[in-house]
Amino acid sequence: MQTTTDAIAALKRKLGSRLCILGHHYENDAVIQHCDITGDSLELARRIPDITAEHIVFCGVYFMGESAALLAAPGQHVYLPAPDADCAMSLMAPGERARAVLACLHAGGRPVIPVAYVNTTLALKAVVGEYGGTVCTSANARTVLRWALDQGRGVLFLPDRHLARNTGRQLGLNESNWCQLELDEQGLTPAEQDKSHPLWQADMLLWPGCCPIHEELTEAQVLAMRAAHPGCTVVAHPECRPEVIALCDGAGSTSYIIREAARLADEKPGSTLVVGTETNLVQRLGRRHAATCTVLPLAQAICPDMAKITEARLLTLLEGIAAGTAEALTVDPAQCPPARLTLTRMLDICAR
Ligand code: 13P
Ligand code: SF4
Repeated sequence: MQTTTDAIAALKRKLGSRLCILGHHYENDAVIQHCDITGDSLELARRIPDITAEHIVFCGVYFMGESAALLAAPGQHVYLPAPDADCAMSLMAPGERARAVLACLHAGGRPVIPVAYVNTTLALKAVVGEYGGTVCTSANARTVLRWALDQGRGVLFLPDRHLARNTGRQLGLNESNWCQLELDEQGLTPAEQDKSHPLWQADMLLWPGCCPIHEELTEAQVLAMRAAHPGCTVVAHPECRPEVIALCDGAGSTSYIIREAARLADEKPGSTLVVGTETNLVQRLGRRHAATCTVLPLAQAICPDMAKITEARLLTLLEGIAAGTAEALTVDPAQCPPARLTLTRMLDICAR
């Protein structure tokens, strides 16, 4: 009997160059083995304009598919094997609430530049584009935040307050000039709307959002791993709390973590690398470098949404594409021009 793996391989052969499958590093190996391109959020967004396939399948969460649909050429279709896989952090910054906050700040004489982490909805990106802002990923947050601060109008960083703090610290910024927003359903709270509130003078305003998976990782876990594995190297994703990052030897995007594992395996055979990020990636690195070094997870950290993409769902989607019945991801055409502007602005800033 044909396995799911074989059935996917057969459909890939049938669709040939009309199909391109992309996968984020957090997907499990069963899915990753079928991907033509793997990468972190930035790398995958960068590859879209060069893809000529008519059908682009994105093994990742919803915002990643939306970004691909925004950057795809006319006539190309983007599909998600699991359209119900939605990044929890992206849902913490609804577009309308961000619009209310920015409108209030601008009307009050604080025309801050919004910088949105790429882990956000299309609606949020559209608002950010309308207000002259851009997006960033964990791989380019420093470059983008520097660009935004250099405009001299203050920055609203959303939704990941931990990435904002970690990036600001890497840039050596003065934290006493940052302000953590509280917000309510409508936008700024009445206290925040009062001009005596510190936010009206702050260099950087932090949206109250985070990744619930990375936020669970703790300082105690880092200390325990250092005690159990003397001399180990500890790296983590910058979505972790700054207190955790402060105890690590390095922090960066999923691609940074992959490079660090390869570097360590090359330069320090026999050593141990402890990694604070999604478990699928850490386990893959452990298998890849098993002959030369030990790669251990800081703790179990499974993103339940990334895990919704399975081989079975990928197969169902490919069968639909081959039969002409699969539903491509659609995006609100009114939101596309300003949202696309935020992504192309990011790619321009980082190409300089
Ligand atoms: P990267 O930008 O490092 O790929 O991370 C994406 C993500 O969702 C991390 O939780
Ligand atoms: Fe979103 Fe966190 Fe999952 Fe990444 S790990 S997709 S930030 S919920």
